[in-house]
Amino acid sequence: MLDLSAETADVRGELDAAWARVLDSGQFVLGPEVEAFEAEAAAYLGVPHAVGLNSGTDALLLALRALDVGPGDEVITTPFSFFATSETILTVGATPVFVDLAPGTFLLDPEAAAAAVTPRTRALLPVHLYGELAPTTALRRLADARGLFVVEDAAQAIGARYAAPCRACPDPERCAADAPVGRAAGALGDAAAFSFYPTKNLGALGDGGLLTTGDAHVAARVRRLRNHGSERRYHHEELGVNSRLDALQAAVLRAKLPRLEGWTAARRAVASRYDAALAGIDGLTPPTATPGHVYHQYTVRIAGGRRDAVAEALRRSGIATMIYYPHTLERYGGRVVDDLPHAHAAAAEALSLPVFPTLGSDAQDRVVDALRRALA
Ligand SMILES: Cc1ncc(COP(=O)(O)O)c(C=O)c1O
Repeated sequence: MLDLSAETADVRGELDAAWARVLDSGQFVLGPEVEAFEAEAAAYLGVPHAVGLNSGTDALLLALRALDVGPGDEVITTPFSFFATSETILTVGATPVFVDLAPGTFLLDPEAAAAAVTPRTRALLPVHLYGELAPTTALRRLADARGLFVVEDAAQAIGARYAAPCRACPDPERCAADAPVGRAAGALGDAAAFSFYPTKNLGALGDGGLLTTGDAHVAARVRRLRNHGSERRYHHEELGVNSRLDALQAAVLRAKLPRLEGWTAARRAVASRYDAALAGIDGLTPPTATPGHVYHQYTVRIAGGRRDAVAEALRRSGIATMIYYPHTLERYGGRVVDDLPHAHAAAAEALSLPVFPTLGSDAQDRVVDALRRALA
């Protein structure tokens, strides 16, 4: 599904130098390496503040905590995501309110979100799933009209940039007028969470995460929360957690960040090769190519209840695929406002194919041939 060795080889010299620099520095948690990474990531993403954390999960958790989302509050989110998205809402004591996906997409439906707002709603939590931007303009407008926060789950979407009104947009003309063209995932909400889990488009050599925000108070609060609620040693203003980014991970991420745009371009080239090869295959719908997508996953839909059989046939031909995600999250608690037909269809039909920057065209042809055979 993913060959990280070629990526590592590509950047091996810089990684060795980064490793040596950290060893020689004798400083292994936070410190100058983390500060430098935070500054470089903030500049790359075009955000005023970036705070290095232990994981994407912690970035979501501390975003909600820093915005004072807690018991009694509702957070409108997608039911079709990794568990951490709703887990963190539940962890802070708030209620995830699951609304459906926009038809034909894997992204939160802004109209369904608008219909689900109650006096208890505090935040919208869209996910830029698979590396495709959620309909942020419409969600931002809804949040501004109703006095809500927007927290982006950008765990899978580093480098995705808003390019045109989103596919799931209910009002493309209006969105075109105020579209934040060129703005990156992570720069569109009140706070955003990134993951540097090793398989992500920008991966550490272990766990790592980043919170971005335009709000200096939120950034300062997250810096405090990541360090046991403390700004000065042994003075604890509030209960926090230990979620400090390691210097080694920061150094690795600094070495890789300058390569990210090139790797993203290579992912897009792989995706457009798939688009061309998979067009017109009966029973298979390729993802709609939206500008700005960074293809953390290349996910097709296989309808008619055949997805699992196709995945099994591919496995027997030596082709790895993944099902992100086999079911929706409403089973874990929270409130469901309707019967989520589009989310359930996505959970039954989504199949992610191998996509990574160094995936060769021969290997891709084998995936496509095996898919054709499985569907024939
Ligand atoms: C959509 C989404 N949100 C949150 C996370 C959590 O990130 P982490 O694994 O770094 O805690 C992930 C990671 O897989 C993710 O894919």
